[in-house]
Amino acid sequence: MRPSQYILVIDFGGQYAHLITRRIRELGVYSELLAASSIATSGLPDRDRIKGIILSGGPKSVWEADHDAIAKLAIESGVPVLGICYGHQLLGKVLGGQVGRSPRPEFGPTMVEVLSSSSILRGFPKRIKVWMSHYDAVLEPPPGAKTLARSGGSPVAAFDVGGTIFGVQWHPEVEHSELGLELLSNFIEFTGLARDWKPGNLIEDLVSYVREKVGDGTAIAAVSGGIDSTVATVIASRALGGRLKPVLIDHGLHPSGEVERVIKLLSGLGLNVVVLNEEERFLDELRSVEDPEEKRSVIGRVYGEVLKEFAERVGAEFLVQGTIYPDVIESGARPGADTIKTHHNVGGLPEDLGLELVEPLRYFYKDEVRELARVLGIPRELVVKQPVPGPGLAVRVEGEVTREKLRILRRVDEIVRDEVEAWGLSEKLWQYFAVLTRSRATGVRGDSRSYGYVVAIRAVESSDAMTARPARLPWDLLEYIASRVTGEVPEVVRVVYDVTSKPPATIEWE
Ligand code: XMP
Repeated sequence: MRPSQYILVIDFGGQYAHLITRRIRELGVYSELLAASSIATSGLPDRDRIKGIILSGGPKSVWEADHDAIAKLAIESGVPVLGICYGHQLLGKVLGGQVGRSPRPEFGPTMVEVLSSSSILRGFPKRIKVWMSHYDAVLEPPPGAKTLARSGGSPVAAFDVGGTIFGVQWHPEVEHSELGLELLSNFIEFTGLARDWKPGNLIEDLVSYVREKVGDGTAIAAVSGGIDSTVATVIASRALGGRLKPVLIDHGLHPSGEVERVIKLLSGLGLNVVVLNEEERFLDELRSVEDPEEKRSVIGRVYGEVLKEFAERVGAEFLVQGTIYPDVIESGARPGADTIKTHHNVGGLPEDLGLELVEPLRYFYKDEVRELARVLGIPRELVVKQPVPGPGLAVRVEGEVTREKLRILRRVDEIVRDEVEAWGLSEKLWQYFAVLTRSRATGVRGDSRSYGYVVAIRAVESSDAMTARPARLPWDLLEYIASRVTGEVPEVVRVVYDVTSKPPATIEWE
């Protein structure tokens, strides 16, 4: 399922380690990130497939953390090795150079003097501005090393030992470093790897992976209408045909029209999805539950029960999931290992479902999944669709979730959607939705006083949901939404707009 050759990035805990893998893939070479701790216990995985190794940055001093053995393993592997920041200092230390407190610790944009425009700095001008973040530095190069660059705080800011071991003090993976991609691409040249990797090339491999994993068994696939579960399901359906049973659990918490929209889109892709209407069951279990985390865990538990029952009914032993690479990395799993913490999009799926997981996308980033979707012919409408959280509107109704509150929220949410789409803003926004707050307020309708709900509108811009900023929606649009909502939904008397960024707020209210 994974390409036969790749560049391994060893993660020493640096905040940019993940970006190194991203950049290498952007350059057309497959790359995986692996925690240093897992190499310390299990050694280098798939030794024959590794064609280059990058040692990432890290928060500690090379004198505090003992990673020498890992650096030695990398060096002895015989493939080209590049150390970045902490990795650079680690190589410097292990190879016999002098590493210690920098005469001038450097943080942020830093000028570097290029002493030799060769090796990993091939084609570089005499001076470049790069991103640094370090207290320690390589003060003297290791024996036999050529110093390629220096800066005020890094006497050996880059070195080359024999055209196979390299170090750079700065972070080429960070956008603020000039010529960062060029540096990484020079390193790729030393590995001899062709830059022809594209996620779309792997579709047939992914199909075979599912086929081999499931054998002649049966699998269920829980679809939500999101891009990850759709792509995973389309791939699994190519592999298993009728032995794949896609299922959509209608927990009664979906926005208005969502289930119908999703089913229509998926049937257009040839997926015959079974819809299980379990609204009653979910709402019963949610009765009197006010705490947001408890809501999530109730929904996760019931979702798991429904999935398990469905699997038993159709005789399935496998569950296809749209877990993607950031989920795998965040759960601290080791690429290649099969026992990862169960990830799902609901918020608390039970650990032991009694089903074996099949996760064709577990090595892909979100934008790569979008690329797979494009190659698979998944309609653009689905690719650009705003995410809906697994627990649906339950996390957008403050306090207890009731049928009545859901009915009110759906009507408001529909107005928000309609208007944002009518104004042509939907594709500029990460998410746009309404929240039914606990607050009640006074209003006036006709000639009489009214007392009703306060709803909040939330619209954010984001690239990955890790951070977000409130969208500057046109005032006229907001005013129009408020007037439609209070006019068309009698239970609501006030509309407010949420102007909080993430952090400190989250995107959802609960
Ligand atoms: P927050 O609210 O944490 O949300 O800023 C970040 C993104 O994740 C979505 N979200 C969820 N998705 N299950 C999901 O599948 C959940 O429990 C959940 N909670 C939040 C949210 O809509 C946003 O896109």
